[in-house]
Amino acid sequence: MKPPICRVTRAIVLVRADALPRHIAIIMDGNGRWAQRHGLPRTEGHREGSEAVRQVVRASRRLGVAGLTLYAFSEQNWQRPIGEVHALMELFREFLISERQEVLRTGIRVRAIGRLQRLPVALRQTLDQLVRDTAHCTGMTLQLAVSYGGREEIVDAARRLALRVADGSLKPDDLDESCFDAELPSTGAGPVDLLIRTGGERRISNFLLWSAAYAELHFSNTLWPEFNENDLYEAIASYQARERRFGLVAPVSDEIANAKGSDTTDKDDARISTAGLL
Ligand code: FPP
Repeated sequence: MKPPICRVTRAIVLVRADALPRHIAIIMDGNGRWAQRHGLPRTEGHREGSEAVRQVVRASRRLGVAGLTLYAFSEQNWQRPIGEVHALMELFREFLISERQEVLRTGIRVRAIGRLQRLPVALRQTLDQLVRDTAHCTGMTLQLAVSYGGREEIVDAARRLALRVADGSLKPDDLDESCFDAELPSTGAGPVDLLIRTGGERRISNFLLWSAAYAELHFSNTLWPEFNENDLYEAIASYQARERRFGLVAPVSDEIANAKGSDTTDKDDARISTAGLL
C-alpha cells in the first residue's frame, strides 16, 4: 500500500522569547512587482502592502519587540511618477488615521524620521499629531521612515554639529560617536539588531546607515504584500541562530550586546573582549 501523501506547505516557526531582537528594521520591497503579477496598478501593490504593515506591527508588538522601524518612503522615492507619490502619501495618511485607535489602545509610541518638512501638509499634521499623542507611551516604538535617507540623516546631523562647533558650544576634539548618537533621530529606537529586506534584492539602500552598523541582515524573497507574521518569525528565528560577535572572537551575551549598542569604540571592544573571556 502506498504511504499517504502528506504535504506541509508552511511550518509554524518557533522563536525564543528570551532572545528577541530589541530593534527590527524592515525594507518593505516588492509592492510594485506584486501588483504587476496580479495585473494591477502599482498603487494597489502599495495598498496591499499596508495590510502587511498592519500584520507585522501587531505581531511585533505581541511578541514584545521593543522597536520596529519601517522604511516607508526614501528620499530617492520622490523621483517616482507623481501619481504614485501622491497615492503613497494618501495611503500613509489613511493608515495613520485608521490605526490611531489601536495604536493608542496598545500603547505604541510612534516616531517619524526623515526630511519630514518635504511631506504634504495634511500628512505632516496627521503624523505630528499621532507622534505627539503617543509620546508618553511605553509600549513598542514604531518608527516610520518617510522621506528618509541614511546619508541625508548623517549629513543633516553633521551640519547641526558643525553649527555648534562654529558657535563655540562644542569643541572639535569633543566630537565623538556619542555626539552623532544624540543628534541622529533614528537612534531613538536604539541600535538595529535585525534588518529585514523583502522582495529578493540584497542591499540596504541607504537605510539606517548608522544604527544598523552591527545589525544582522535577513533577506527574504517574499514580496512585501505577501510578507506575514510567519515570515517575521522566520526572520527572527534566523537571527536567533546567529552568533553576534561585534568584531570579537567569543560570543557576546545579550546583556553586553544591548549595553553596547551603536556606541562602538576600540575602548569598548577591549572591555567586551575582557568580559567575554571571564
Ligand atoms: C517598495 O516597493 C515600497 C515602497 C517604496 C513603499 C512602501 C510602502 C508601503 C509598504 C505601503 C504602506 C506603508 C505604510 C507605512 C502604511 P516597490 O514599489 O519599489 O516594489 P518593486 O521593487 O516591486 O517595484
